[in-house]
Amino acid sequence: MAKLHLITYGCQMNEYDSERVAGLLKAEQYELTDSEHDADVILLNTCAIREKAEDKVFSKLGELRALKRTRPHLMVGVMGCMAQLHKDEILKRAPVVDLVFGSPAIARVGELVERARRARPVLETGEAPLVKITAKPDGASRLKSFATVMEGCEKHCTFCVVPVTRGRQRSHTPAAVLDEIERLAAEGCREVTLLGQTVEMYGRDLQPPTDLAALLHAVNDVDGIARIRFTTSNPFNFTSRLIAAIRDLPKVCEYVHLPLQSGSNRVLARMNRGYTRERYLDLIAELRDAVPDVAVSTDLIVGFPGETDADFDATLETVERVAYDNVFVFRYSPRPGTPAATMPDQVPLTVKAERNSRLLAVAGRAAAIRSAQLAGQTVEVLVDGRAKKNADELAGRTRCNRVVNFEADARVAIGDIVAIRITDVLPHSLRGTLAARVEEAVCLSR
Ligand code: SAH
Ligand code: F3S
Repeated sequence: MAKLHLITYGCQMNEYDSERVAGLLKAEQYELTDSEHDADVILLNTCAIREKAEDKVFSKLGELRALKRTRPHLMVGVMGCMAQLHKDEILKRAPVVDLVFGSPAIARVGELVERARRARPVLETGEAPLVKITAKPDGASRLKSFATVMEGCEKHCTFCVVPVTRGRQRSHTPAAVLDEIERLAAEGCREVTLLGQTVEMYGRDLQPPTDLAALLHAVNDVDGIARIRFTTSNPFNFTSRLIAAIRDLPKVCEYVHLPLQSGSNRVLARMNRGYTRERYLDLIAELRDAVPDVAVSTDLIVGFPGETDADFDATLETVERVAYDNVFVFRYSPRPGTPAATMPDQVPLTVKAERNSRLLAVAGRAAAIRSAQLAGQTVEVLVDGRAKKNADELAGRTRCNRVVNFEADARVAIGDIVAIRITDVLPHSLRGTLAARVEEAVCLSR
């Protein structure tokens, strides 16, 4: 068998795509290797969301040029969002690359690799029909799996390159999604995360139309699955039906990632986000009213073009008001082909850096208070492995996706769901003691 090494950058969607590629190439007699030094094919699954993500890829391609001098038969491929966005530039800037293909071409990866073996380079970035690929490489953990429910995005936020790199919004049919999840469950999957760039829009483009709430109900009925998550949601179309599904369905975790981006209505309008700060706060209130213990996280952009001190203060104030469990802060990065890249009043890097750290400090205080409330509580944990720093301990995640470490116990195996009483709240994890072993997912608060 030939050897394949995969390097994945970016989001969960990319992790999922990489897994599919490994699964499909297994059928072509490629086995995965952890080391790039004994690989026959190296594929970089790339991200284009910010410039920094792209810089990493170009510097990796520079390193691979040196490796290829010692292994001339080595094939280097670039797939994913950068492949779609910069197809010609990649081949020009990095002649080491033999194969470039976008995400629509993943289903044909076997054929593309074969073509590139015969004559290099191969470039494949056109649109292709939507196919649901179900292929997992050997040895991949099934315990927690992703399932894409839709591709692309049509919201056209003015800062975002995803509509360019991932194309139109297309939902997979409920039958295709359920078929994949049933198979995953049969292979031992206990937690599934439904993926889409605007997952709350799921199904509106299908004939007959359906929605994410209906899909969650159907996935909730799949035997063997204990937990359901979904990501990522744009607040614009987060409906009361969806909130009711989170409240009513026992397997749907009480955790929502709801990107705010900015707390200033002026900036939100320039971002073309489709909601106001007031609508967002109402949505959070409705969500917390229905699901009192829900954990909420968000994405924020600092230094969007034209963002004034007053706009930034509105973001600080909104973040303080919401009191998130976790926030991800990004410095605005101009992306080719997006409207915001050519807006006047680009914000200097130093201002972005300063706003970044002020925002993290404010958000961090609220998150620490939220974490501290967990001390003494008993939470439901899906055990997913050994603790990172101590092999005598087991680790898992709560329903709100926090890491919990606890002393290993002969009664508990990986894949079990247990009740853990939290004894210590640490900055990035929780520690606790085993309270009980539970057979089925029961919502024991967070
Ligand atoms: N579909 C999601 C976002 C996907 S991109 C949504 O609806 O919000 C993940 C995050 O990257 C975004 O939420 C945004 O905060 C950030 N991001 C996207 N484009 C960016 C850019 N040009 N500069 C900085 N951050 C960006
Ligand atoms: Fe990007 Fe906005 Fe879609 S952030 S992925 S264009 S919802």
